[in-house]
Amino acid sequence: MAEERTQVVIVGAGPAGMLLSHLLAADGVDSVVVETRSEEYVAARIRAGILEQSSVDLLTEVGLGDRLARDADKHRGIYLQWPEERHHLDFVDLVGRAVYVYGQTEVQKDLIEARRAAGQVVHYEVSETALHDIESDRPSVTFTDAAGIPQRIRADVIVGCDGSFGPSRVAIPARESWDRTYPYSWFGILADVAPSTDELIYAWHPDGFALHSMRSESVSRFYLQVPNGTDPATWSDDQIWDALAARLGHGQNGWSLQPGRISDRSVLPMRSHVSTPMRHGRLFLAGDAAHIVPPTGAKGLNLAVADVALLAPALAALLKGDPRLADDYSETALRRVWRCTHFSWWMTTMLHTAEDPFDTQLQLSQLRWVTSSEHAAAGLAENYAGLPIGF
Ligand code: DHB
Repeated sequence: MAEERTQVVIVGAGPAGMLLSHLLAADGVDSVVVETRSEEYVAARIRAGILEQSSVDLLTEVGLGDRLARDADKHRGIYLQWPEERHHLDFVDLVGRAVYVYGQTEVQKDLIEARRAAGQVVHYEVSETALHDIESDRPSVTFTDAAGIPQRIRADVIVGCDGSFGPSRVAIPARESWDRTYPYSWFGILADVAPSTDELIYAWHPDGFALHSMRSESVSRFYLQVPNGTDPATWSDDQIWDALAARLGHGQNGWSLQPGRISDRSVLPMRSHVSTPMRHGRLFLAGDAAHIVPPTGAKGLNLAVADVALLAPALAALLKGDPRLADDYSETALRRVWRCTHFSWWMTTMLHTAEDPFDTQLQLSQLRWVTSSEHAAAGLAENYAGLPIGF
């Protein structure tokens, strides 16, 4: 078996893993990344599109902000609406923080580019990844590389950034986890059409939730609440545009929805999941490997950024002999994880049509409150625009 040695093996080359390798390198720590998918697959998968102020600040501070500064679209807030009513929440006025429209695909491309320029070793298309000796200070990761050759990487630390289905989370022996599944999914489309709005519209509607988001001046992103198990191929383009027009309020107060060519469609299930602890021995978890949030409120990617921002200095100190930050990592990270878990659950349950008429009245009451009380609006804004990284 071929052997390699590094300080940190990172399992998973998504945004959490690649940003961690970047932050570690800035602290003088070497890493090797392993990933089951191909580089092209990882770079192209369509995910979230909103960055919090603190994620943008961090990416900028570590030299990843050039294209972001040029191409990201700064938004002061969002619209919240229900039939006949549309209200703007201005996060900058409310809490002094903004959000940025910049797709995860773009963050991933910036990371791949930066790591390539720095000579980062990333093994793509590996299989049979296994973690070993995580309770010792000489852990290792074995895998079969893209050419079919068995490999072992010995390290001081392993970090699992491999999502909820990867081998890292289940390598933690005494785990406790919390789950919530939701009785609906999101049907997401990308369309080659200029957005019909300047900022995102989150719409409560008796037919189901709809969201008007965007990726650029010429690409719009939309989501519709659909029953679990919906096959996206069974909806015609006209059905999709009709549902979006009805739920987003086409024709109300002079607003109209401009349809366009649909270039991508997919259905995403929604769930909340937290797995603790986020560290066992020399294995640490970051991002989706430890927690999943439903997409409403766009917290998933931002939470992954916050995890690795905390973890990189903790590992750098650990490798220099100071374990204090690493010992606190799980507890510190989980404070933010639970805050975002609550916020995502709250946004989800406030906006998705419920079966129960009592729940419907509570949702409408909640929507009226967050759009009419400055204090309630500020709470939403603080969570949406993102708490400071150290929260
Ligand atoms: C997007 C996704 C979200 O979950 C959200 O709350 C806002 C925007 C998006 O993909 O654009």
